[in-house]
Amino acid sequence: MIEDACAALKAGKFVLLYDFDNRERETDLIIRADAVTPHDVMTMRRDGGGLICTAVHPEAARRLGLPFASDLLKGIGAAEQTGDIPYDRKNHSSFSIWVNHRSTFTGIPDRDRAVTINAIAEQVKRSLNGGGHNFAAEFRTPGHVALLRAADGLLDVRRGQTELSIALAEMAGTTPAVVVCEMLDNDNGLALSKEDAQAYAQKNGLVFIEGQEVLDRWDQIKA
Ligand code: 5RP
Ligand code: CA
Repeated sequence: MIEDACAALKAGKFVLLYDFDNRERETDLIIRADAVTPHDVMTMRRDGGGLICTAVHPEAARRLGLPFASDLLKGIGAAEQTGDIPYDRKNHSSFSIWVNHRSTFTGIPDRDRAVTINAIAEQVKRSLNGGGHNFAAEFRTPGHVALLRAADGLLDVRRGQTELSIALAEMAGTTPAVVVCEMLDNDNGLALSKEDAQAYAQKNGLVFIEGQEVLDRWDQIKA
């Protein structure tokens, strides 16, 4: 249930967020960025296995000067164009830049990534609260944490885990900076099936939620 997902997110626990049967059909482990510990990064590496990314609210991205990677790469032949993504022809990917916190050494160990992720959350919070923020003073790019920029209009415009997780953070009243990591199947290398993701959630006492439930609540709030 959506209330359980919001409560878990608020409590700093992982939530398993499946998108849609007609989209990626993937489940991401998601967790609020300001609560992430090095152990959580290890859990995402071991039990998720996908990319560890931090999604941020579009208004924070604008204030912090975070671009879409597809805009930055314009002019390069391989640059992604709208229409390129097979499961979502209307939108482009939410990838922004990749960063390391300036205090990290290589940026990849669990501790380094947790430091970077926590600092991203702090910058997002400060930017939205009108506090002092200076992204360039805190981070260098390229780095080892991928930033995802949620679409303006969130779920009215795009329905990826990027927007779903930021919408959930808004519903939960937490800082809209959320770490997401796809769950892969260690036996066959494919996306973990919905059933296996549900079994993982049950075994570990975690909440599993589908994008449709988030979308239904979003529509209720907007009505
Ligand atoms: C980054 C991705 C993942 O699919 C992630 O879930 C965010 O993307 P989207 O918002 O498109 O679902 O591409 O690893
Ligand atoms: Ca996804």
